[in-house]
Amino acid sequence: MTYLASKERYQTMKYNRCGHSGLLLPAISLGLWHNFGGVDSFENGRAMLRSAFDLGITHFDLANNYGPPPGSAEEMFGKILKTDFAPYRDEMVISSKAGYHMWDGPYGDWGSKKYLMASLDQSLKRMGLDYVDIFYSHRPDPNTPLEETMGALDLMVRQGKALYVGISSYSAEQTEKAVKILNELGTPLLIHQPNYSMFNRWIEDGLQDVLSNNGVGSIAFCPLAQGLLTNKYLSGIPKDSRAAKDHSFLKEDQVTEEVVSKVQRLNELALERGQSLVQMALAWVLREGKVTTALIGASKVSQIEENVRALDNLDFSQEELEKINHILQG
Ligand SMILES: NC(=O)c1ccc[n+]([C@@H]2O[C@H](COP(=O)([O-])OP(=O)(O)OC[C@H]3O[C@@H](n4cnc5c(N)ncnc54)[C@H](OP(=O)(O)O)[C@@H]3O)[C@@H](O)[C@H]2O)c1
Repeated sequence: MTYLASKERYQTMKYNRCGHSGLLLPAISLGLWHNFGGVDSFENGRAMLRSAFDLGITHFDLANNYGPPPGSAEEMFGKILKTDFAPYRDEMVISSKAGYHMWDGPYGDWGSKKYLMASLDQSLKRMGLDYVDIFYSHRPDPNTPLEETMGALDLMVRQGKALYVGISSYSAEQTEKAVKILNELGTPLLIHQPNYSMFNRWIEDGLQDVLSNNGVGSIAFCPLAQGLLTNKYLSGIPKDSRAAKDHSFLKEDQVTEEVVSKVQRLNELALERGQSLVQMALAWVLREGKVTTALIGASKVSQIEENVRALDNLDFSQEELEKINHILQG
């Protein structure tokens, strides 16, 4: 059936400025790491993309290796772009990345100019795009000069194949150096993509300061700790959950008693706030406006619908924040 985007799509979403740039990003973005690959239901993926866009989610995050098999999430997204989203390309911010293993031999991994340039060309072909809005170095490469990796990002922008550039999982120190190199090249760093959630707070120890001092935005990946920060694991591992899937990075043994006990207490606090735990976890990532956007994953349309409603209550009292810290430390 032909897709017509909802006329109400811009009525409830909140858009945040990404660092000091001109680009606004939705407070909630959708990533295609899981559930959009060749092994997944195409129609379910399509329904999730349509409903996300209808809810004002304009930013879709991909990478060369998302699937499985690697590349298949970009192919899937390319098909939907053609059939459903063709009239809406200019209403979307589409990103891709390279940095992890993608093809055999010495030129299909890490951060050389050789790998990044070839990978972006492949991603554009898979998605049927002339350009991506944001291209990331997916991880720092200890064996490639940072100047070379940043030089590749700058070249992509000069070639018109990417509008903005980002880095993912770089430390505070590496980020500071990357910012300097990119400023010298004339292609400022738009955004950093770190893992950030109640269960993983490493960015509070330096990186957030580097980003705010340099006017760089941030997009927090795995804000629900891959689904741990939901109430789904409170009484076992559901068959259709990520922890039960063979190809997932979330393993059953990560659902420990300690995690479940913290989740239980967080869940109670969320209910007192009139939110689900998922909504509180997303609101917490976005608190005080330090993070530009929370980058969620989803396996069902209903999850996306629930998650965007986190924006109904983004405020925390000091007492609530302290209670959360206490639970997380306990
Ligand atoms: N830069 C990097 O290195 C990097 C690494 C990882 C991810 N990322 C990006 O971040 C995106 C998000 O990562 P993620 O998928 O791990 O994020 P996440 O939001 O922490 O976890 C998503 C999972 O949580 C569960 N979930 C979400 N909403 C729910 C709800 N309302 N109720 C119950 N369960 C819910 C679903 O799991 P079930 O399948 O169990 O339903 C869903 O697949 C990725 O798609 C990718 O774009 C980037």
